[in-house]
Amino acid sequence: MDKSRLRIAIQKSGRLADDSMDLLKSAGLKIQKNKSGLFYRIKDLPIDLLLVRDDDIPGFVSEGIADLGIVGSNVFKEFSLQNESDDTSILMRLGFSRCKLSIATPNEAKYEGTKTLEGAKIATSYPEILGKYLKDLGVTSTIVEMHGAVEVAPTLGIADAICDIVSSGATLEANGLTQQETIFKSEAFLLKTPQEISPEKLKTISRITTRFEGVQASRETKYIMLNAPREALEKVTELLPGAEAPTVIPLEGQDGMVAVHSVCRESVFWETMEKLRNVGATSILVLPIEKMMA
Ligand code: PRP
Ligand code: ZN
Repeated sequence: MDKSRLRIAIQKSGRLADDSMDLLKSAGLKIQKNKSGLFYRIKDLPIDLLLVRDDDIPGFVSEGIADLGIVGSNVFKEFSLQNESDDTSILMRLGFSRCKLSIATPNEAKYEGTKTLEGAKIATSYPEILGKYLKDLGVTSTIVEMHGAVEVAPTLGIADAICDIVSSGATLEANGLTQQETIFKSEAFLLKTPQEISPEKLKTISRITTRFEGVQASRETKYIMLNAPREALEKVTELLPGAEAPTVIPLEGQDGMVAVHSVCRESVFWETMEKLRNVGATSILVLPIEKMMA
């Protein structure tokens, strides 16, 4: 292992793994897979990927085994509550792999708010987050710590309720469970080690975070093109969501008509397009932006 190369820990397999790979690829990182399946090299950049279980990522980053790590804020929060003096920092909130940490009970069970959990057994992989939540509400329950297959705990008679990650809700449904309350909302974070980082590595970090920001911006940003009568220009510009000074071009051979081109920094909804048409815009095009750099 070459210690001069920046090491980024990502999840080996799972939802977060796919989204992390998407981000790295969109940022132009060419991943060279190898047989070991533990390390992937990045072509043309001094970066290696370390493929591990997501639960191990905060610990690896904290100890400097990896310089950076991409992990769900749920896993990081649990780690932080267990290691209060740890200085691992959040370099970026990545906005993907959004999910909820929720309490769920068997479909047939009666649930009348958190007080129903008084004296109950709750299975979870997040004992710290759940413990804090219950404590703040003054509810005393027994937390049964499990790693994996938490959703089967009620069927097995191990627990009365569970507290686990819900994304699509398919796992709960398949196990006859109903979501009752959300205790934590999660998204992917980019973590940075508290250990010393060489100036060369810091340069690489700055390069890739600039690219990640670009990917994030272009995912939210669209390019709008439309035609409009010149007198409708003011109304059109007001309707363009998060637009910077639009480019206005006279339309050849069409008196009083202009083309408007603009970058919009917010999502463009069908409703916005309908409003634009109502003030006189025609031929409205909304295009994705592949890459951006300020
Ligand atoms: C969570 C959770 C469920 C599943 C829920 O696991 O433990 O198994 O996702 O998703 P669904 O609502 O779409 O069915 P996660 O992907 O976080 O992986 P891990 O806990 O095994 O690391
Ligand atoms: Zn996990």
